[in-house]
Amino acid sequence: MSNEFSLDATTESTAEHAIVLRDVHKSFGHGRYQVFKGVNLDVKRGEITFVLGPSGVGKSVMLKHILGLLKPDAGDVLIFGKPIPYDNASALNEMRKHFGMLFQYAALFDDMTVFQNVAFPLVEHRRSMTHAEMRLKVSEKLLAVGLDPEQSLDKFPSELSGGMKKRVGLARAIVLEPQILLYDEPTTGLDPVTRAMVDDLIVDTNKNFGLTSVVISHDIPSALYSADHIAFLFGGQIVFYGTTAGFRECQHPMVQNFLQSEERHRKEMHV
Ligand SMILES: Nc1ncnc2c1ncn2[C@@H]1O[C@H](COP(=O)(O)OP(=O)(O)O)[C@@H](O)[C@H]1O
Ligand SMILES: [Mg+2]
Repeated sequence: MSNEFSLDATTESTAEHAIVLRDVHKSFGHGRYQVFKGVNLDVKRGEITFVLGPSGVGKSVMLKHILGLLKPDAGDVLIFGKPIPYDNASALNEMRKHFGMLFQYAALFDDMTVFQNVAFPLVEHRRSMTHAEMRLKVSEKLLAVGLDPEQSLDKFPSELSGGMKKRVGLARAIVLEPQILLYDEPTTGLDPVTRAMVDDLIVDTNKNFGLTSVVISHDIPSALYSADHIAFLFGGQIVFYGTTAGFRECQHPMVQNFLQSEERHRKEMHV
């Protein structure tokens, strides 16, 4: 079992960084299109790290590297200090259990109830659990994300508001009790009230469950509100990493450009 991916007590207490990307290079199309040209990022345990950058810059590609769905052409990805076990399917599967993921549109199954949606990972990974145990676990997670289980367990996604769908998606993301939560564009396409709700949900969930969160986004107000650290991805590299205050004052031309264009976009969209 020595090559299995497990978070034993030593790893737990010694790894300061939940995720490390070290000089990661990645190209598509037989090297013609270079997305990463040496990405370096240290995600501190317990923190909320936002990765910001314009559309098409490689934010989703970065998430796929963190989950081991893509392998770097060169460089390393470490999870709690351990390299991703690309060549060991069962260890890779084990590693992925430490991650929860919330997709852009919550990605709920429309023909399943809230209970079935949230229980889905339990059915996959906790085969010995009884239906009653699952019901209890799902209810606990729904409560944790601010939903009343009685009112929501048997509803279908079409009966839920956008904000409630996000909450259900988040309940599903934490049902296996992950240590790291990944969000891909969690506030894109939401109205301002729901956006603010999601911002609070990200902060509360990270704190209440003692998690580490990585949020891929181009939502600057959301990042300034929720992040402990912000990383800015541009031109295949992290060109800025620092606090929210540091980000506001960052003089990097691409960061300035991004700040201004997002500001303009928000004014035009009245959001
Ligand atoms: N599997 C793939 N094969 C080829 N090109 C890809 C693949 N995945 C992503 N890309 C390209 O990598 C670039 C970055 O994509 P993505 O990470 O989705 O951007 P973002 O999430 O920042 O908007 C895009 O130009 C995209 O077309
Ligand atoms: Mg993306």
